[in-house]
Amino acid sequence: MSSINVVILAAGQGKRMRSALPKVLHPIAGEPMLVHVIGTARELHPTGKICIVYGHGGEQVPAILTSPDLAWARQEPQLGTGHAVLQALPMLDPAVPALVLYGDVPLIRAETLQQLLLAAGNASLGLLTVDLPDPSGYGRIVRERGRVRRIVEEKDASGAERSIREVNTGILVAPTHALLRWLPALGNRNAQGEYYLTDIVAMAVDEGLTVETVQPSAVWEVQGVNSKSQLAALERIHQENIAQALMEEGVALADPARIDVRGQLICGTDVSIDVNAVFEGIVELADGVRIGPHCVLRNCRIGPNARIEAFTHIEDAQVGAESIIGPYARLRPGARLGREVHIGNFVEIKNSTVADQSKANHLAYVGDATVGCRVNIGAGTIVANFDGANKHRTIIEDDAHTGSNSVLVAPITVGRGATIGAGSTVSKDVPPEKLTVARTRAITIGGWKRPVKHKRD
Ligand code: UD1
Ligand code: MG
Repeated sequence: MSSINVVILAAGQGKRMRSALPKVLHPIAGEPMLVHVIGTARELHPTGKICIVYGHGGEQVPAILTSPDLAWARQEPQLGTGHAVLQALPMLDPAVPALVLYGDVPLIRAETLQQLLLAAGNASLGLLTVDLPDPSGYGRIVRERGRVRRIVEEKDASGAERSIREVNTGILVAPTHALLRWLPALGNRNAQGEYYLTDIVAMAVDEGLTVETVQPSAVWEVQGVNSKSQLAALERIHQENIAQALMEEGVALADPARIDVRGQLICGTDVSIDVNAVFEGIVELADGVRIGPHCVLRNCRIGPNARIEAFTHIEDAQVGAESIIGPYARLRPGARLGREVHIGNFVEIKNSTVADQSKANHLAYVGDATVGCRVNIGAGTIVANFDGANKHRTIIEDDAHTGSNSVLVAPITVGRGATIGAGSTVSKDVPPEKLTVARTRAITIGGWKRPVKHKRD
């Protein structure tokens, strides 16, 4: 493992994003682009802190990323990529090379960077380059007798140079002690009036250093984001990569183009996922789990062979083995369901445990409750947990049944094996094994006549 400094350039404005949010904070898979680049940099185990050059958007960027392994260099004003790296120099270890990455090039892979570091070693300059059918907009790699001589920016390039298809991705590695000499010597007499980092290539060659080049395995690794459309394009590529990796692990995806993973999705064997599922945070799907179409799962654990049916929403919750949830169910934070639990359409469970084999199949709200085994929560049952000021717990013991449209006013305990009649509102404890009904009896009025409509004259 080579020792290196890492510098991430993230000071640019990103005008074309048309957003108040600094460009590098726009998300790919739910995380700021810069966080992806930091994650990749960490895989390389840099010697010191990862140095991030920020500027546009002020303190917003360092404010949200406060990890102790990050160091921040403010660049104000932004006078070019060479000037940007210059701001980071005082924080770097002169004894090891510096790798320059970009906060808006989020999909670069650690393996590719390892190859670049290996090719450059401690004494050479290493450039990550790529051949593009349409190189316009990029700096071109000018070679002489096959060796890199310099980089010319498109705006400064001659017609012949513009026809070069090997371009500078921007990512490079250079000896840090050499940068200490080169960067302060950069000029800005060029078409953009900027201090170009790319001018160090000619300086290196003039000093007799070798310049090595490495190419990424795919162009998307080095694609930058300047607009919402490019952001969306990289999001799709990233999701496709995640989908491919899941399928290689054995996960069955109904359509790899219609899954979104924004975090970590951990799957057992024989998991299948239907279309348009969204996974956020850390989601664990045990062996044999089936996820129906259009589900959203955030920070949750789904037990073996459980089935999550269409349009179900689960957040900060646990589902036990062999359970069936949905369609159209909602498990909110703190819902913990045991084995073989059935939760059906338009049922909401919040901060409640529901033990093995219990069911709530239709139109119910269960909040702040402890539900035993084999309980049947009837259609339309509401656990009234909130008195307008405070929340209270409800206990429903094993084998209890609540009738349709019953309201359980917390705090109460429904005893083991109790049955509550349909339409009951109960606000004190319900004794075990008995039928409790709390509703007015139906009466029938004899001789009553249904009104008839008066005729108008
Ligand atoms: C740069 C390269 C070009 C390469 C291209 C790849 C230079 C002079 N040119 O051009 O050879 O083909 O990237 O995309 O390096 N930044 C700062 N501070 C600054 C200027 C830029 O932090 O003062 C950051 C930006 O936020 C951005 C990156 O550096 O992430 C590149 O800047 P940009 O202006 O987009 O460079 P290009 O002109 O595209
Ligand atoms: Mg520029």
